[in-house]
Amino acid sequence: MAVMPTGLNSGTEDFQLNKSFYEGLVADLHQRRARAHAGGPEKARQRHRDRGQLLPRDRIKLLLDPGSPFLELGQLAGEGLYDGASPSGSMITGIGMVSGRPCMLIVNDATVKGGSYFPITCKNHVRAQTIARNHRLPCITMVQSGGAFLPEQAGIFPDEGQFGSIFCNQVEMSSEGIVQIAIVMGSSTAGGAYIPALCDEAVIVRNKGFMYLGGPQLVHAATNEVIGHEELGGGDMHSRTSGVTDHLADSDEHALFIVRDIVKHTPAPGAQRWSVTAPLAPRYPVEEIYGIVSRDSKYPTDNREVVARLIDDSDLEEFKPLYGDTLICGMARIHGFRVGILANQGVMFSESAKKGAHFIDMCCKRDIPLLFIPDVPGFMVGGAVERGGIAKDGAKFMTAMISAKVPKYTLITGASYGAGYLAMCGRPYKPTAMLAWPSAHAAIMGPDQVANTLAQVRADVLKRDGKEWSAEEEEEFKAPLRKSFKDFSSAYNFAANLWYDAVIEPTETRQVMALLLDLAGRMPAVKTQFGVFRH
Ligand code: COA
Repeated sequence: MAVMPTGLNSGTEDFQLNKSFYEGLVADLHQRRARAHAGGPEKARQRHRDRGQLLPRDRIKLLLDPGSPFLELGQLAGEGLYDGASPSGSMITGIGMVSGRPCMLIVNDATVKGGSYFPITCKNHVRAQTIARNHRLPCITMVQSGGAFLPEQAGIFPDEGQFGSIFCNQVEMSSEGIVQIAIVMGSSTAGGAYIPALCDEAVIVRNKGFMYLGGPQLVHAATNEVIGHEELGGGDMHSRTSGVTDHLADSDEHALFIVRDIVKHTPAPGAQRWSVTAPLAPRYPVEEIYGIVSRDSKYPTDNREVVARLIDDSDLEEFKPLYGDTLICGMARIHGFRVGILANQGVMFSESAKKGAHFIDMCCKRDIPLLFIPDVPGFMVGGAVERGGIAKDGAKFMTAMISAKVPKYTLITGASYGAGYLAMCGRPYKPTAMLAWPSAHAAIMGPDQVANTLAQVRADVLKRDGKEWSAEEEEEFKAPLRKSFKDFSSAYNFAANLWYDAVIEPTETRQVMALLLDLAGRMPAVKTQFGVFRH
């Protein structure tokens, strides 16, 4: 038992300023979520309702068990891309309970450009499939899609990770026994028709769902055949004649009911492999995090105070607290699930990197999942640390982090730059889930550093040509660089591009982690084989 002490004084002006700044960030997050929730333009939503169809979020509500959580993934995907034409990346994906089983829901939003797939829609679908595959979650896809958004074909058609990978994943998951179910709820053309056709079981809604490789207009143009939607790809035809669909439903509601029944007959989730204790609230209020996280990334956050408000009973069994203290490492529980925490408390040094590698090794040996909490300007630079072999020690940390086969989670809470972002289990190292708080910033360099670096390079070039620049010219050069790096680093840019799975409030963190850990603990453990460590 090692309860983390707190030195927090919530009465200071600094605390209050941080708090009101963070409350502004949270209000902004909720506005963004509300915009994403709305889906397509009101006109398109009204047309959808006029056709007698349920909106995608209402379909989800009806499918889920009463009271089920729904962990939405990629909710802010597409924000600001394609002139804002693809809220949530034109689809809703997330994990919820259906007939007592956790399932991955993948739901086209036909109110957004007819549910057609933008590049980010493909990425969203593929990412949801990856998370489903990693946890053996049945996939339930509600299909109503005009296939590829044709003007964006380069980002949809030719490459791995795009539309074709959706089919590949469906087939591979099905072969691994991960159940694939589809409901054809509206017009589903081309790629939109292959998705249900590649499922284990497909339901179609009478008079509403249509699926065909080419719609009536295309058929007429190509073959001169005149044929209506119903005859070409309606529910009756596919359920009685072609055999493409397996269940004919009378309405959206009926289709969802049928799917709930199908799920009842799928394999139950695996048993929990970890010993989970009764959850205990942290000793200090989680809401205090708002006053703790620094409102200005130039002034560091005391992440010990943050960790103390995320873990059960604020109980951290800290590893090597007196060594490499810019990386906090320790065993704790979140909602009763054991985790190995690695949280930054300043710049990474050789000692912090070596300690982190040692800690990851132990967690892997003990089958303890890792939670990385990056808030790091990067690794220390300079002659002394280079002579001390920081490249070797950073590599050791990276080798441990990349090799680790226990579930890995990344929660970016502050500014996370360069090799620091990467080493703390950045997206390229495939964390099981990549989460961020609204205060997160990530980039290859901070805005000031990039402006200063490139200004120095420019000054050297000018000098070589025998020229100089004035302080005003230098500032004119630097200002747009600072702005573009600041905009890039925003949590919402990362979420829009699906480099993060979700932006969550600090107060949501424990519940989100509990859900993810519960799913991960139902998978068999995978043995870690480390790469060669450079000593
Ligand atoms: N590519 C690009 N834009 C598409 C699209 C696609 N595949 N499918 C629909 N859209 C656009 C429409 O141009 C329209 O854009 P707008 O809002 O700027 O006017 C918007 O999506 C809504 O389409 P609309 O036809 O009004 O909606 P709907 O609900 O009545 O019908 C479809 C939806 C999908 C049945 C119909 O749009 C359709 O048949 N699309 C073509 C499907 C196709 O042939 N796909 C082949 C892809 S390989």
